[in-house]
Amino acid sequence: MNYIGIDLGGTNIKGALVSAKGEILKEHSIPTRVDLGPEAVAGRIGQVIAQLSIGEDTVGGVGVGCPGTVDDASGIVRFAANLNFVNFDLRSALRAHTALPIHLGNDANAAALGEALFGCGRGAESTIVVTLGTGVGGGVVQDGKMLTGYTGHMVIAENGEECTGGSRGCFEAYSSATALIRDTKRTMAAHPESLLHAIAAEQGGVDGRTAFLAKERGDEAGAQVVEDYIEHLACGLTNLVNIFFPEVLALSGGVANQGDALLLPLRERVRERSFGSRYAVSHTRIELCTLGYRAGVIGAAMLARE
Ligand code: BGC
Repeated sequence: MNYIGIDLGGTNIKGALVSAKGEILKEHSIPTRVDLGPEAVAGRIGQVIAQLSIGEDTVGGVGVGCPGTVDDASGIVRFAANLNFVNFDLRSALRAHTALPIHLGNDANAAALGEALFGCGRGAESTIVVTLGTGVGGGVVQDGKMLTGYTGHMVIAENGEECTGGSRGCFEAYSSATALIRDTKRTMAAHPESLLHAIAAEQGGVDGRTAFLAKERGDEAGAQVVEDYIEHLACGLTNLVNIFFPEVLALSGGVANQGDALLLPLRERVRERSFGSRYAVSHTRIELCTLGYRAGVIGAAMLARE
């Protein structure tokens, strides 16, 4: 049996037909068009499902990974800030477009399941994936099973930066690509002499790479942005290590593309701060995810397989 996995993002709806063994057989993606509203977005998911179902008589179901608080039992997405969904009955809306069974899950939970089963966590007893993109997401997989429940935003700074959901000090408000871009821009405003300006001009604007490139070229202001970013990320990841003590803690999303420039200092800081690290042998391996964007669609398909 094969399954359709949908990774519903703020920018694109990515879909794939996936075998029970996690192989991608067909892919189809279209822009999400959040501006058209929830019903229209559901219709667009329906289009992707229809494309992936053409000529297929062995599709067992559809899994949808959606950002925010997703309740599979009722089929309702309670709140997804980046999609403007509030108490949206996504499963009922999708019913109009497909007769296949539909399973819903959080997007980062789905990515974690994909990585744990077929990517960086293969063979590990427990895997946590943290996605560093527009938002920050995460998922925990223990013995091949996803830990689910209502997902919320972890707070790492009391009364800190404002976050998308209206609260303050969330992990996402410091460790998302969005936060990194915000901090890069603030630093540029305070440091007209910084190389950040020239680099942003060369790259056609500020993005998650700007500060890392400036640091590489010896720019102090850029190095400080990277330093602060890594410090906050290390804080959030240390909390996860101290709560879950996972075998693998893996990063994905745009910022993870920085590779060793991010990983090497992070490993050191998380190890220093993990509880008992001076006495216990370090247990958690901090790695990069290996499936890239495919983790989301493969994991979503596995929601339907389960
Ligand atoms: C949402 C999470 C989601 C993450 C990545 C966050 O803003 O609250 O549920 O997993 O973004 O899309």
